[in-house]
This record gives sequence, structure tokens and C-alpha cells, in this order.
Amino acid sequence: MTKVTDTPTAPAAERAKPALPDAQTVTQVTHWTDRLFSFRVTRPVSLRFRSGEFVMIGLMSDPDPATGKQKPLLRAYSIASPSWDDELEFYSIKVPDGPLTSKLQHIQPGDQIILRPKPVGTLVHDALLPGKRLWLFATGTGFAPFASLLRDPQTYEDYEEIIVTHTCRTVGELQYGAELIAAIRNDEMLEELIGEGFSDKLRYYPTTTREESPKMGRITDLMRSGEVFNELGVPPLSPENDRAMICGNLAFNLELKALFEEYGLREGANSAPREYVVEKAFLD
Ligand code: A2P
Repeated sequence: MTKVTDTPTAPAAERAKPALPDAQTVTQVTHWTDRLFSFRVTRPVSLRFRSGEFVMIGLMSDPDPATGKQKPLLRAYSIASPSWDDELEFYSIKVPDGPLTSKLQHIQPGDQIILRPKPVGTLVHDALLPGKRLWLFATGTGFAPFASLLRDPQTYEDYEEIIVTHTCRTVGELQYGAELIAAIRNDEMLEELIGEGFSDKLRYYPTTTREESPKMGRITDLMRSGEVFNELGVPPLSPENDRAMICGNLAFNLELKALFEEYGLREGANSAPREYVVEKAFLD
């Protein structure tokens, strides 16, 4: 499947009519594969967040057959857009029988979603001690919080080098991240904000596990074998120089946590910044 983007058709005033509690209006939907889509919504004027945080979003459930009542069906979604953006962007899986995503995957520009404006999360700069190199490790939709952090000037101000790894099943599942990285490299506004050559700090290491691509394998295996470090020309992670953020499926998060502890990195939190932080990617 190729990328398909829906853009608004209804007049702005009509699209902005609130019908749900904490309603926001969908402004754009892009289907990347039959399993993945991203969408943009209006941003509540008062919403402030730190790049990397998540909010609860969702839709109303179908009416209960007995009572006819509908309930909000909410899940935690990382905000994929940077904090300076006028709109909010999200990146989602489509699970055919997932309570929320089976419905959410059909949203179109002009539709409304529920967005509880209380951002939280640990994949934030504040939860890491200062360091030289920032590693961002994602699988699948775990790329979302990094899509926010990679468009945040602070990321480039705080680190000499930023290495993003993204492991997906197929090449198509890498496309959202690959296009975003390419756009960042050509972003004149970011260059103006951060300074010329900022994107030279950014290194991208995509891998696939179930379809042929230039780099195949799980990032965890490529770290254990040392291949990723040899190819990037950097030493294995050390508590002195390296900081890391992890966002992927549960097994991936646990495996990487164990690896980091071997390297001597400790898990941080907002209240106790350390060398790495972790969050589970949303799976309906
Ligand atoms: P694999 O295809 O070998 O399972 P999913 O779409 O199931 O969430 O997986 C996203 C990517 O994460 C896949 O490429 C998958 O590889 C990989 N993955 C799953 N579990 C782990 C793990 N424990 N360590 C590293 N990568 C993993």
C-alpha cells in the first residue's frame, strides 16, 4: 500500500464545531501502510507540553445495547509534533479488532476526537542527565515521541550527536520516520532556530526484520554483535557519554533495559534524572 493523505474539505468554521467533551478537529490523515497511519488535529489554545510527552485521546464508544449510553474510549498516545507546532500530530497502529484503533483508523478531516489536555511522560529531556550523545531507540509506532523530540531545537542544543534507530517489520513501516528525518534535514526554519549544519548531528539507523532492506535485523541483536557501533563508528554506550530513550513494544523495552544495565546506564525519571528513560509504545 502506498501513502494516502486526506486533506480538509469542510469549511473551517464547520469543522471547528465541538460535539464531544474535550473535542478537537481532525485536519489531516495519512495512511502509511495497511497497519499504520498518522493524523493531525487542532491544538487546544491552553495546551502546553514537553516534547516526548503523551496525552489521552480517543472516541466515544458505540452505544451500550442495554442502556444506549456511550463512554469515552481513551488510550495514551505520544504527541509526535513538536511543542512549537500549531497543531498536534499522532502516529498510530491499526488493529482490526482493537477497541479504539478499529474505529480511529476511519477518521477523516473534519471529524472530531477526544483529547484530554493533560500531557505526561518520561521521554523528556528533563529526565536525563547532561550527556554527549543521545540515542533514540524505537520499534514501530514507538517512533512517535521521537518525531516530536527530533523537531525540538533543545535536542540539538543539548547534544553533540543524536542517533535514531528504528526497527520495523517492513520497509513501508519505516516510511513515516524516514520522511520525517529527510524533512528535518531540509528544514530552513529549524536551521534558522538552531544554526547552520545542525542536522549533521543527526544520524539515522533504520532496520527491518521481515522484509529485505539495506540493514536487516533487530537493533538489540545488532548491538550485541557490535555491528551498529562499528557501522556508525561510535563506541558502545557508556554512562559517561551516552543518554538513551526507548520506546517500543514491551519485549523490546525489556531487552534494551537489560542491555543498558550491562553498559552501566541507570533508568531515570522526571524526579530523578539519570542515563536512560523508557516508555511503552501504544498497542490497541
Ligand atoms: P520481529 O519481526 O523479529 O518480531 P511489532 O510490529 O510486532 O511491534 O514489531 C516491531 C519491530 O520490533 C519488529 O521489527 C520486531 O521484530 C521488533 N521486535 C520485537 N520484539 C523485539 C525485541 N525483543 N527486541 C528487538 N526488536 C524486537
